[in-house]
Amino acid sequence: MVKSSGGLEATLLYEKYHDQIESTLAKYPADQKRSAVMPLLYLAQSEYGYVTKEAMEEVAAILEIEPTQVASIVGFYSLYYDHQAGQHRIQICTDLPCALRGADKFAEDLCKKFGVKLGETTKDGQFTIEGVMCLAACDKAPMFQVQNKDGIFYHENQTVESAAAMMEEYRTKTK
Ligand code: FES
Repeated sequence: MVKSSGGLEATLLYEKYHDQIESTLAKYPADQKRSAVMPLLYLAQSEYGYVTKEAMEEVAAILEIEPTQVASIVGFYSLYYDHQAGQHRIQICTDLPCALRGADKFAEDLCKKFGVKLGETTKDGQFTIEGVMCLAACDKAPMFQVQNKDGIFYHENQTVESAAAMMEEYRTKTK
């Protein structure tokens, strides 16, 4: 165990990423440490693949807030996950404006092509296909973002064929 800049004992994440976490905390006033919750959650998610219950507790300990406050942020944002998924999260916007441009049918057909239902992961563990709310590309539907260990990537004006071809490229990159 080591102590964070707040003097509180923190756990694995802090020990492993001490310098990175301290430099993130240094960007905020000492009494506003909670503002660092987003970058710390991103760090936790990169480390564990999703934000585990233990990671929420770690982040809460570092920021000296309640784990439930951290959990509510994880639950609110589509960039954070509280469960394991495939190597690539295919997040299709199915919000109303996109649905009016065929996003629902696109999502359904893409899922069918990969043998899953929305929210499920392909058997090989590569892709989780999810429906999400507005991603700010409403006039370019069908669109989706891909989240994986390399970052977040937008793909707009898609067809099932173009999306499937792109997903195969992602699959190849992670082999
Ligand atoms: S409604 Fe789909 S990107 Fe805005």
